[in-house]
Amino acid sequence: MSRHIKLSLGVAFMALAILTGCERPRPISEQTGYRGTGMVELANKRDNVKLAALNALPEATAKADPNGPTAGSLYKNVQVLGNQSVGEFTRTMVNMTNWVAPTEGCNYCHKAGEDFSADTLYTKVVARKMLSMTGKINADWSTHVGATGVTCYTCHRGNNIPKDIWFSAADPGTVKGFTGWKYGQNTPVAANGYSSLPLDSLSSYLANDGQVRIQGTTALPANYASPPMGNKASIANTEWNYSLMMHMSNSLGVNCTFCHNSRDFSNWSDSTPQRATAWYGLRMVRDVNNGYMTPLESTFPAHRKGPLGDVAKVGCATCHQGVNKPLNGAQMLADYPELKKIGATVAVTAPAVAGAVAAAPNVLGKIYFTTGKNDIDAAGKEAIATAAKALAANAAATIDISGFADSTGNQDQNMELGKQRALAVRDALKAAGVAEARINMKKPEFVVGSATAESRRVDLVAVGM
Ligand code: HEC
Ligand code: HEC
Ligand code: HEC
Ligand code: HEC
Repeated sequence: MSRHIKLSLGVAFMALAILTGCERPRPISEQTGYRGTGMVELANKRDNVKLAALNALPEATAKADPNGPTAGSLYKNVQVLGNQSVGEFTRTMVNMTNWVAPTEGCNYCHKAGEDFSADTLYTKVVARKMLSMTGKINADWSTHVGATGVTCYTCHRGNNIPKDIWFSAADPGTVKGFTGWKYGQNTPVAANGYSSLPLDSLSSYLANDGQVRIQGTTALPANYASPPMGNKASIANTEWNYSLMMHMSNSLGVNCTFCHNSRDFSNWSDSTPQRATAWYGLRMVRDVNNGYMTPLESTFPAHRKGPLGDVAKVGCATCHQGVNKPLNGAQMLADYPELKKIGATVAVTAPAVAGAVAAAPNVLGKIYFTTGKNDIDAAGKEAIATAAKALAANAAATIDISGFADSTGNQDQNMELGKQRALAVRDALKAAGVAEARINMKKPEFVVGSATAESRRVDLVAVGM
């Protein structure tokens, strides 16, 4: 063989080795949208094994008796867990230790030798806020976390500090040379998926309510002085927006088509139900960061803060850690009913998306009531009959009943009224032939600051239809 041929053969083998070595084992592709829309998710067996290990559930401790004296009546300084039974409270302390400080133990939050009621360590003050935050996510953001819910473990996974957190980043500002202002670009970091997109899109979208839009809503140019902003969308906006989208896709380990039909990214009715879940997710993350993390700024010591002095914040990856449902969708909260005793309320609604790809909460009907009453009128009876028919046709579906009341007047009376209305609707559904086991009663909610007909209602929400 001449040297020339040997060389060519060598090059050919090398090329073959490089090409076949690209990704092994071969990726698994799964179709997630309608045929022909190119909506597929690619996964790799090797990564799946790693992700499964990272997202395995810890073994649950034995359940506690929910009855008996409450922690609030026994202990001195219990501000959040007051309505847990003493047994549940003790279980919560043990679980928090396992989930957040398995090496340090109780002394991570309680100073050795001091009474447990003392708030000496900052970690205890943070943990108390974290308890309210966890309760708030589970009670008010079921539009995102569903019945799966979250516990401290969802974010912490046995670590003092969750693995994926973020801080505001200093804009690199101007650089030498003709490029001038970098606009936060060409600084690859985890938050932008190591791309050349702006490095700190998360501050605008996950801590402030920056509009996630790349298209203007009006034909005419921007009116910066007085909102609505009209055609404010710009190339710069688009880059920030795409940087956020990279963060979202990476956090969940999915492609853009998991949520969008790429022929029209902005169109909601072409999008998957997961996009609506993500919409709620964005709002939930803002609520968590603004309502719980940022207020802890003076509590955290300097060495826990970021380069700009802000506290660590939550992003999509803090819970998701590379999978579309944290802990691969294991319903961990179900093992910890005492955590559901913490909670408050809000109500927000996402734009309507395309149906059918996956089960998403689905409002079957709304039943309105007159002030102070729980009687169901003719329109209400019709809504109940329709819901009963839909349930008869979908044997696997269940129904959530949630009562709403306005937040004016006596709150306890309003809550009681919300409950009475929900019970009236449940009885009417049973009378229409729906088995009681398929009906889930939800805690009544307030519609904040409104006294309209919309706040005097009961929603019928189909689950799994
Ligand atoms: C991650 C932080 C953390 C860890 C670890 C922790 N605790 Fe607590 N502990 C708290 C917080 C926060 C409260 C207050 C809860 C509230 O305000 O509702 C509290 C309150 C208490 C109280 C009530 C004291 C009183 O009189 O007010 C007792 C008792 C207690 N903890 C015991 C324990 C024990 C025992 C352990 C270890 C098994 C433990 N805790 C581990 C955060 C922690
Ligand atoms: C949504 C995600 C999330 C959940 C759920 C969550 N945490 Fe945290 N936690 C964070 C973030 C983010 C930080 C800030 C990390 C830092 O200190 O830099 C943090 C910090 C803490 C710290 C301070 C750690 C330190 O050493 O500075 C404690 C203690 C803590 N969390 C306890 C809890 C407890 C207890 C629960 C459950 C009741 C809980 N967390 C639930 C995200 C979460
Ligand atoms: C987990 C779901 C999800 C993934 C994955 C995702 N997006 Fe989005 N995207 C959304 C949501 C939700 C919005 C709207 C947010 C809002 O209204 O607050 C949005 C908005 C957008 C918009 C703005 C549309 C408009 O109306 O102007 C564009 C463009 C976009 N996404 C592109 C992408 C690209 C490119 C990718 C992949 C790198 C991607 N998205 C990945 C959920 C997702
Ligand atoms: C506090 C924890 C937490 C954070 C933070 C979080 N998620 Fe989620 N997310 C969940 C849980 C839990 C579920 C599973 C819900 C279920 O089982 O119905 C979920 C489900 C989803 C789903 C539906 C997946 C599917 O297969 O149907 C999408 C999409 C999603 N999240 C997007 C996001 C985006 C985007 C962000 C950041 C803006 C985010 N999430 C932040 C906890 C979180």
